[in-house]
Amino acid sequence: MVEFEPKIIAFCCHYCAYAAADLAGIMRMKYPPNVRIIRLPCTGKLDVVYLLKAFENKADGVMVVGCEKGSCHFTSGNLRAEKRVAYAKELLKEVGIEPERLEMYFLSSSMAGRFVQVVNEMTERIKKLGPSLIAKGS
Ligand code: FES
Repeated sequence: MVEFEPKIIAFCCHYCAYAAADLAGIMRMKYPPNVRIIRLPCTGKLDVVYLLKAFENKADGVMVVGCEKGSCHFTSGNLRAEKRVAYAKELLKEVGIEPERLEMYFLSSSMAGRFVQVVNEMTERIKKLGPSLIAKGS
């Protein structure tokens, strides 16, 4: 039997997560290839609609990775994103999709190891959950 390979979308802030992912690549750190990164100027740009659209487009999991609290380059974009992620989790629950499929993380640009860790964490979590309701319907 072929092992389930989840499709995970990671909305990454340009200033931290994207730079950390880049650094992980430069340092030749390995992480699962399941994650597709979408770069944002700040996680504050993220709308709930983008999160839901990712699931609608058959993502099995979605990550939002922003700057550490107190370090957002636009003051509080990461805090706004945190609220939107919490709201999107409620919406997912209402439509029967496990809210654990969506998670927000905070890190800095130098935290390549932490970036790899959260990608591994999320991949393992989604593998345990299996394909999302929408992806299964394909
Ligand atoms: Fe990184 Fe706002 S600039 S989350």
